[in-house]
Amino acid sequence: QLREIFAAAQSFKRYRNRQTAPALQGQSWALLFFKSSTRTRVSFEVGIHELGGNSLYLSTGTTQISRGETVADTARNLSRYLHGVIIRTYQHSMIEEFAAEASIPVVNALTDFLHPCQSYSDLFTMAERWSRKGDLIESLKGRKIAYIGDCQNNMANSLVLAANLFDMKVSLSGPKAYAPAPEFDAFLESEGFTGGHEFSTLRGDTLVDADVVYTDVWVSMGDEDEEAERIQQLQPYTVSMDLLRLARPDALFMHCLPAHPGMEVTREVLDCPQSIVFDQAENRLHMQKAILAILAKANR
Ligand code: CP
Ligand code: NVA
Repeated sequence: QLREIFAAAQSFKRYRNRQTAPALQGQSWALLFFKSSTRTRVSFEVGIHELGGNSLYLSTGTTQISRGETVADTARNLSRYLHGVIIRTYQHSMIEEFAAEASIPVVNALTDFLHPCQSYSDLFTMAERWSRKGDLIESLKGRKIAYIGDCQNNMANSLVLAANLFDMKVSLSGPKAYAPAPEFDAFLESEGFTGGHEFSTLRGDTLVDADVVYTDVWVSMGDEDEEAERIQQLQPYTVSMDLLRLARPDALFMHCLPAHPGMEVTREVLDCPQSIVFDQAENRLHMQKAILAILAKANR
C-alpha cells in the first residue's frame, strides 16, 4: 500500500490545475481538532475540496465532547453522517478509542505519540529528491536521517516508525532526559519492528554520513508547562550551519514546521539552499489527497 500511496501522491502533484478525479464526490469528511494547526488543517480542507468532497472543521469547544459526551458516542454519531474523520488530539488512546467505535475511516492528523501524515509526506519529499526518474521507494533504502532535539516527541517517533517501514536508519541526538521513550520501543517491538534507530547525546556522532538533518520544536503542543526546563536542556542542540556541515555535503535540512528560529534551528539554516521545509509543507497536500483517495475507494 505504501507504493500505491506514493504513486498516487506523485500523480496528484503532477496535475497542474489540481482539480483531479473527484474521488470524494458526494462525501463529507470532518476534521475534529483539539490542537492548533496551520498546515494540516489547510492542506486537508483544500485536498478534500479538490477531490470533490465537503469538509467540516470541528474545533475544541464547538462539539458536545467539550461538555462531556463520550468519545465512543461521538464516534458512533459521526459515523452516521460522515464518510471519514480526521483527528488531531492529545492522547493517542483517544484516537484509538474513536476508531474502535467508528464505522468510517479515521485518520491521525497528530497525537502526542505520532504524526504519520507528516512522516509520509516527509519521506515522499526525500524520495522526490533522490529518485530522479527511478523508483521512489527504492531511493529511500539505506539512507540515514539525523534527528536532533526532543527525541521523545511525535515527530521523532513517526520518523523512526517510517524508517522501519522504508528500510532507513535514524540516528537521534538530544539530552538524556529526552531520549526515545521505553514505551515507544515497546510499541515498535509489538508492531514487529526491530529498531532501526540509535540514540546519542553527542550531536556530532549522529550527523556523520547523514542524508537528512531533521529537527522539530522543543516544546510541543501540550508540553507548555515544561517550557523553561525544555529550553534550558535542549539549548545545546540548535541546528546551526556549523552543525549542518557535519552531515554529508548534499544533506537535506528538514523540519515539519512551525519553526522557532533561534531555538531548535537558526534562520540561516531554515533559509539555506539545503533546506526543503516548504517543499515538505506543500507535499502534505499531495500526500493527504493520496491517503484520502485510497480510503474513499475502500469506503465505496
Ligand atoms: N506540520 C504541521 O503539522 O503543521 P501544523 O501544526 O501547522 O498543522
Ligand atoms: N511536535 C510538534 C509538531 C507540530 C507539527 C507538536 O506536537 O507540537
